[in-house]
Amino acid sequence: MASLSTATRLCLRSAARPAVPAVRALSTTAARPDSASASSYTSPFTGGERGNKVPDFGKYVSGTSANTNLVFSYFMVGTMGALTAAGAKSTVSEFLVNMSASADILAMAKVEVDLASIPEGKNAQVIIKWRGKPVFVRHRTADEIEQANKVEVSALRDPQTDDERVKNPEWLVMLGVCTHLGCVPIGEAGDYGGWFCPCHGSHYDISGRIRKGPAPLNLEIPAYDFPEDGKLVIG
Ligand code: FES
Repeated sequence: MASLSTATRLCLRSAARPAVPAVRALSTTAARPDSASASSYTSPFTGGERGNKVPDFGKYVSGTSANTNLVFSYFMVGTMGALTAAGAKSTVSEFLVNMSASADILAMAKVEVDLASIPEGKNAQVIIKWRGKPVFVRHRTADEIEQANKVEVSALRDPQTDDERVKNPEWLVMLGVCTHLGCVPIGEAGDYGGWFCPCHGSHYDISGRIRKGPAPLNLEIPAYDFPEDGKLVIG
C-alpha cells in the first residue's frame, strides 16, 4: 500500500507541472530573424548590396591567346609524363638487376669437368667445387664396378644399389662431404677401398655407401649429366 501511494503522488506531481514548449526543449539555437532567409547580405566592411554578384577576375586573365596556354599545358603534361615513365623504368630495371643471380653465382651453378684428364682407377686430381662443396669424381675399373655390385644391399645402413648411384658405372660422381658432421673424406682409403673420414672414422665403399663408423647416410650424389663424350657437367 505504501508503494502504491508513492506512485500515485508522483503521477499527480508530474501532472501539475507546467508544460514546457517542445521547441524550447529541443532547440539550442536562437531563432533567426526573417532577414536571414534573404539571398543578399550587407557587408559589414564596405556596405552595400553584394548578394548575387560574381567577382570580376578579369585582371588575372592572361593577355596571350588561348592556344598559347594550351601548348604550354601540353608541354608540361608531356614532360611530366616522360619523367615519370623514365623513373618507373629505372626503378623496375634496378629491381630486376638486384633480384637476378650475380655472375659468380651463375658460375657456381654448373661445373664442367673434362673426363679425359682422369685415368681409369683414379680419382680426379684437381679439386672440383660445386656450390661451395667438393665433388669426388672417380673413374672406376671393371673390378671396382663388380665389387660395388656384389654387396648385399639389404645389409647396408643406407640401402642403395650401385645402379641407383651412378648414370654410367664407369664414373662415380658424388659430393665429398661426410654425412656425419661434414668433414671431407680421404680417397682410396678405409676398410672398403673407397673413402675414409678421419674426423670420427667413417668408412665408405667404392660406391660411396657408408659401411662403418658414425655417418648415417651414403655420400650424396649431386645432379649431373654427360652432355657429350668425355664431358661431365655437374649441376
Ligand atoms: S665428420 Fe666424418 S665421421 Fe664425423
